[in-house]
Amino acid sequence: MKTYQTNGAFAENYKFLIGSIIPRPIAVISTRNIDGSNNLAPFSFFTAVSASPMIIAFSPMIRSSDGEFKDTVKNILREREFVVNFCTETNYEKVNLASTELPFGDDEFKFTGLTPINSELVKAQRMEESPVQFECVFRDMLCYGKTPGSGSLITGEVKLVHIDESILKDGKISTDLLKAVGRGSGNDWFKTDNRFQLERLTKSQIQK
Ligand SMILES: Cc1cc2nc3c(=O)[nH]c(=O)nc-3n(C[C@H](O)[C@H](O)[C@H](O)COP(=O)(O)O)c2cc1C
Repeated sequence: MKTYQTNGAFAENYKFLIGSIIPRPIAVISTRNIDGSNNLAPFSFFTAVSASPMIIAFSPMIRSSDGEFKDTVKNILREREFVVNFCTETNYEKVNLASTELPFGDDEFKFTGLTPINSELVKAQRMEESPVQFECVFRDMLCYGKTPGSGSLITGEVKLVHIDESILKDGKISTDLLKAVGRGSGNDWFKTDNRFQLERLTKSQIQK
């Protein structure tokens, strides 16, 4: 086994993270720009935090090109709300395009050809091509530094969940129908169609 100190450069630590924390789900976050247009960007440092209240978290890093917060962060801090859309086999190419660094205020829906639709509660628009959409109200932000690669943790309380009925089976989201894709290291992406089933054992089953 080789052991590394993590006081090295951002690039090396980043490789440890994206190489070992896999597969990562992808949140496609839509926010409202100051002029009312839309911003859209994917984030794979993303997870569920709490079921009641329903809270999710994602981690935008300080932008390497200029040392500033990413546009998603600037918009969330100003507007206090955002939408989490999901990356699937039918939208991943356009979602990947949404990670392009456009000048602040440029509309990534227009740039990618993805379709904005009005939300019910928040002003940020939803992505029509996402079969699940979470309307979120900003809860907290923890910042871990101010230099390129420093991350922060943003949490949002999910106030409304929209689900396309075509992905429901027996009232639940079907993994086969959702066709979510995730992120690996480098240019690796994952599909979710290679799965296996494992029963969760109760204490009495283990002791038998
Ligand atoms: C699949 C995918 C996942 C990404 N995950 C993250 C992430 O977790 N954190 C991050 O800071 N950037 C991530 N990025 C890069 C951002 O999407 C990119 O910096 C984007 O330009 C940010 O947009 P914004 O400035 O409009 O917020 C990811 C890119 C891709 C393609």
